Amino acid sequence: MGEKQLLLGQTLAFEADPFKVPVDEAARWRRRGAVLVAEGRIAAVGEADALREIHPDAEITDFGDGLITAGFIDAHAHYPQTGIIASWGKRLIDWLDSYTFPEEVRFGDPDHAARVAATYFDLTLAHGTTTVCSFCTIHPQSVEAFFAEAQRRGLRAVGGRTCMDRNAPEGLRDTARTAHDESRALIEKWHGRGRLGYAITPRFSPTSSPEQLEALGTLWAEHPDCLMQTHLSEQTEEVEWVARLFPQARDYLDTYERFGLLGAGALFGHAIHLKPRERARLREAGAAVVHCPTSNTFIGSGLFDMAGLKAEGQLVGLATDTGGGSSFSMLRTMAAAYEVGQLRGTALHPAQLYWLATRGSAQAMRLDGRIGNLAPGLEADLVVLDLASTPAIAQRAARAENFWEALFPTIMMGDDRAIRAVWVNGRALPGGKGGARGGAR
Ligand code: GUN
Ligand code: ZN
Repeated sequence: MGEKQLLLGQTLAFEADPFKVPVDEAARWRRRGAVLVAEGRIAAVGEADALREIHPDAEITDFGDGLITAGFIDAHAHYPQTGIIASWGKRLIDWLDSYTFPEEVRFGDPDHAARVAATYFDLTLAHGTTTVCSFCTIHPQSVEAFFAEAQRRGLRAVGGRTCMDRNAPEGLRDTARTAHDESRALIEKWHGRGRLGYAITPRFSPTSSPEQLEALGTLWAEHPDCLMQTHLSEQTEEVEWVARLFPQARDYLDTYERFGLLGAGALFGHAIHLKPRERARLREAGAAVVHCPTSNTFIGSGLFDMAGLKAEGQLVGLATDTGGGSSFSMLRTMAAAYEVGQLRGTALHPAQLYWLATRGSAQAMRLDGRIGNLAPGLEADLVVLDLASTPAIAQRAARAENFWEALFPTIMMGDDRAIRAVWVNGRALPGGKGGARGGAR
């Protein structure tokens, strides 16, 4: 590989948030664009002809009609649930008890954890996802497996040991002390190592005692550059359970807030059934909420208020929530976000959907300026989409009268077949994408 590589194709970048300014100002599409990659970073983005002339020494890869964008960023996932995705017939609490917890118990075995981590990153990369923010399990081995596998592939990734000291089965319970101490040891080992980052991870208030939440709040205060990830107001039964467990709390968010777990760098998955006070505090604190639309429809949780939350200035990311979510694909996730928007009376523009899956999730994870866009200086995590990847998509895209109309069928009907190539840290994955054989090994 040459030192400088020039990728040619259609390109899509974002100069601003398309929820805040008109799409034409927010998005920058080039019919014949180019991305110059050098030393793992994006060195330039521009017109193909111009960049070819300025950089005659660059090695060229021409993707023709392929669409080059930032790789997708999945801001909330559970890699240990890879093997139980698409498990039938339950609502949240029963789904956790019936499928999730029995599977998570198995991650005490480091070999199992390593196998699932490898499968998980094969799948996410094959779907064009270059960064995830994942829950692990209570076992430090599950975190070791996650970070080791991400590091081997050169991925920017965030993960954390899931903490639970009550309302969980034997074998999946820790204590306030072990949650704090084992999380701290993992932070010291992995946070900031290469491209890896740590998220302090209380699973959700029902499975943490006040003492545990307090211990993790203290840990976050000691390591404020870590993220904090958890769940918030996903299902109505869950919200009622939290009210019974924390009678002194003003609302669900307060069960985190009172223990120092609300602030910039906090990521709250789902956040569907929010009260006005919770919305106000989330925004004031600069915390992020993460929309998990395939999970919210699959588990029957409810309809996220994207339009309202964005209009009031909340930070919002987009995520699969695998395996509560029913797909590893951020394209399928964008489609579900569109459908949920329609059910709430707002049709999200393709530019808004794409922004959420890239730059919006990067902002939520405090990684804007590093990943999530095509811009000079950013790390070169890229995806190249085929906008005619199936006969159904191709025949619709052929009738498109503008770029957004050409992109939208891939958002609505695309999957891993639409992923032509994936670049991680300036390197193309062999075989065009993650692949079933282990991708970047
Ligand atoms: N709430 C607490 N744990 C989980 C989980 O693993 N998945 C989902 N969707 N919600 C949760
Ligand atoms: Zn989740």
